Amino acid sequence: MAGARPNFMKIAPLMHALESHKNIEPILVHTGQHYDEKMSDLFFKQLNIPEPHVNLEVGSASHAVQTARIMERFEKVCLEQKPDMVLVVGDVNSTAACTLVASKMYIKTCHYEAGLRSRDRNMPEEINRLVTDAISDLFLTTSIDADENLIKEGVSPEKIKMVGNLMIDSLVRNLEKSQSVSMELQTLSGDSITLGKDFFKSKYGIMTFHRPSNVDDFKVLEKLVKIWTDISEKIPLVFPIHPRTLKNVKNAGLYDNILRYKNFFLTEPIGYLQFINLVSNSAFALTDSGGIQEETTFMNVPCLTIRPNTERPVTIWEGSNKLIKVNEISSEVDLILAGKAKVGKSPKYWDGKTAERIVKILETL
Ligand code: UD1
Repeated sequence: MAGARPNFMKIAPLMHALESHKNIEPILVHTGQHYDEKMSDLFFKQLNIPEPHVNLEVGSASHAVQTARIMERFEKVCLEQKPDMVLVVGDVNSTAACTLVASKMYIKTCHYEAGLRSRDRNMPEEINRLVTDAISDLFLTTSIDADENLIKEGVSPEKIKMVGNLMIDSLVRNLEKSQSVSMELQTLSGDSITLGKDFFKSKYGIMTFHRPSNVDDFKVLEKLVKIWTDISEKIPLVFPIHPRTLKNVKNAGLYDNILRYKNFFLTEPIGYLQFINLVSNSAFALTDSGGIQEETTFMNVPCLTIRPNTERPVTIWEGSNKLIKVNEISSEVDLILAGKAKVGKSPKYWDGKTAERIVKILETL
């Protein structure tokens, strides 16, 4: 099962590892939670993910409606396909919805990226993680803290397997290729820009923001926009903006002001290869995403995460990630520009071989 953008880079290496497997036949179900060309199709193309066998086409809606639509349609797929196991990834609405359906149909469920906890129940993803892990049968984890969380919650250790990080498999596979992809990007102000070697040499920051806690409250958003645009006068910023954020920036009346800043490159969501190219060459990332905390840790790019907590603490203990508050952004960027960025290393099993480990486990079931 895959449903939203951050799922696609997790599912890709797994589909490739299972492609010609003798005994395991994967059926890829796309729930359609993300559906735009730029949020979905482009990722399937660039990551070479086979066409989904089924697309539930649920689209956007409130959490309850989206979850209910996925459940209703996924139940039909399970009735028709009679799978031996349903494997879900990540923490999006699709993850929880499909697990709930399968477990009530007595189909074994496996959660990849199990056990991550932010302990912040205001995050819809935390609810999805708790629901999914409360009823899964097999728990594949990315780091030791996830194993510890699950054990504390009463999961028996033999059901937990630390396998490493599938997102890093995708990164390892595509990092070199990403360096030669066309970097011609459309800015939202209507220009076409090509970010080449000169731009990379002169340093820039890459940004993503889409969490409700940062972008749904217009007061917070206004503060953020002021900070981003101020920073762009010190160092160029590239911001491929998530549809939720763009909608809110426009509704809050902040859009026209942003467009006035010449070094603030606001673009539509961009492809995976362009994105990892931009991250790998950047001076820093400014984000509230989960996955980017992991990708920057692997690439040892300084990452400033604007959130009160993270479900991925290993990126802080071991990696180049720092959790900071809105009013700390400017001073933290100044530290990086002064050459005092945090340096880290990659956690255990974040090595490009996670899909292989997972397939070995599935073969034993
Ligand atoms: C979802 C995930 C989040 C993940 C993020 C990555 C949940 C609860 N959240 O949040 O964990 O980090 O995806 O992107 O599952 N929209 C489009 N086109 C699309 C998809 C969405 O325009 O292809 C718009 C929708 O109309 C909606 C907004 O984006 O207004 C939010 O989409 P939604 O899937 O509800 O949640 P995300 O914020 O993307």
